[in-house]
Amino acid sequence: MTTSPQRIIVVSNRGPFSFSLRDGEPRALRGAGGLVTAISAVARQQDVLWISCALGKGDRDWLARVGNGVHTVEDMKIRLVTPNPAQYHAYYNVISNPLLWFVQHQLYDTPRAPVLDETVWKAWEDGYASVNRQLAQAVADSLTELDGEVVVMPQDYHLYLLPRYLRERVGDSVRIQSFLHIPFPGPGAWRVLPLSLRRDLLDAMLHADRLGFQTERDTRRFLQTCVDTLPEIQVIEPWRRLSYQGREIDARAYPISVDVDYLEQRLTSDEVQQYVQQFRAHYQNRKLILRTDRVEPSKNILRGLIAYRNLLLHYPQYQRQVEMLMLLVPSRTEVTEYRTYLRDIMALAGEINATLGDGNWEPVRVLLGNNYDRAIAALSLYDVLLVNPLADGMNLVAKEGAVLNRCDGVLILSEEAGAAEELGEDSLLVSPYDVYGTREALRAALEMPAAERRRRARRLADQVRQNDIHRWFSRQLNDVQPEP
Ligand code: F6P
Repeated sequence: MTTSPQRIIVVSNRGPFSFSLRDGEPRALRGAGGLVTAISAVARQQDVLWISCALGKGDRDWLARVGNGVHTVEDMKIRLVTPNPAQYHAYYNVISNPLLWFVQHQLYDTPRAPVLDETVWKAWEDGYASVNRQLAQAVADSLTELDGEVVVMPQDYHLYLLPRYLRERVGDSVRIQSFLHIPFPGPGAWRVLPLSLRRDLLDAMLHADRLGFQTERDTRRFLQTCVDTLPEIQVIEPWRRLSYQGREIDARAYPISVDVDYLEQRLTSDEVQQYVQQFRAHYQNRKLILRTDRVEPSKNILRGLIAYRNLLLHYPQYQRQVEMLMLLVPSRTEVTEYRTYLRDIMALAGEINATLGDGNWEPVRVLLGNNYDRAIAALSLYDVLLVNPLADGMNLVAKEGAVLNRCDGVLILSEEAGAAEELGEDSLLVSPYDVYGTREALRAALEMPAAERRRRARRLADQVRQNDIHRWFSRQLNDVQPEP
């Protein structure tokens, strides 16, 4: 991995740990989610200060006990800011999720398009903008403790406004290199938001020096949206560089990845191997079709279930020969859509089991909870991995599966997942809306000759190994210097 002479400050909503006090003693638990897993892998090896929000009471209690400022926890330097709970709620549960998340994953249909009433506008200013200002201030405060050139790396859609607030505080004394983990849709999708809000958001983003996206497609759509929305903007190099208000800004794709060494070493751990034994015993006479996701409308879990039910109905020879295992992690349960979605999933899975299952066979098995070791075990054993999101920045499950699987499993991958740019050729690509196509892809995967399965699985694994998380980070650091 390339080491770098710069000081690095990563800023994100969620930090690497969730804290609590047990019997008065501070405890740190590893945070969950793609962003945290990815950045944790690099933050341990680079000299990184990671600034994030205190998310709940546990974090706030911890902070009250240890005090503000920079702390070193498990080799990572971290700093927490503490928005008050009302501000945080407005920023996270009203603006970031669902509004921005739903726009960017194109989850709104016309009858259910967002209603931007006064509460939403207030949440934008008092919540979203306010938390962005607080994080920008924490970065500015931290600069006084660092010498040398500093690169600030804001992560994701929670922090679109941060680059502008940071420039207001520290001018051009830092380089700002943002990265967006979720899809950036084209100008049409953004038009459900009012022009003034779209301009505010893009203008703030363009205070960075470089913006990183998951795919070439996201990068193009960002530039198109800028041209559609902002006056006086010019694309000076197609799909690469803009000029805006006297500054030049780069946009580039840096497809995120997984920590291959960590995953392979974790797979051999006793904890994971215990799950491997249990799953092996259960699936010895059955093919395993796996999905593992947050409970998230963009993951398209319902259409996946419908395709699977149709497979069992249309090709009854698979009944009792296959099982779908769904490892689901509840997520954002404060947001109504997420709660309803979990209810709908459980109802459909129950219906499939009631109508097609029998005393010896449950067609769908749902395991709820955030258990990474269990997921690693299942990923090593699948015959088919179903990854069919309606939209997804990258989808790290597809990449984790590629390096962990030991059964020449077949990847069924949505063409709307960012991972399709790198893994599309060796997976079975499906349109996420096409349940007929997904049913046929399930069948093709179950029937695929062993030699072809092996060939595809090897190429998928090689692709991810050669482009792991350390490469993702070092490519961004290598690009930090302005081009001549
Ligand atoms: O990039 C999207 C993302 O932030 C991922 O990092 C992560 O998988 C997921 O969303 C987690 O979201 P939250 O922090 O809201 O639980």
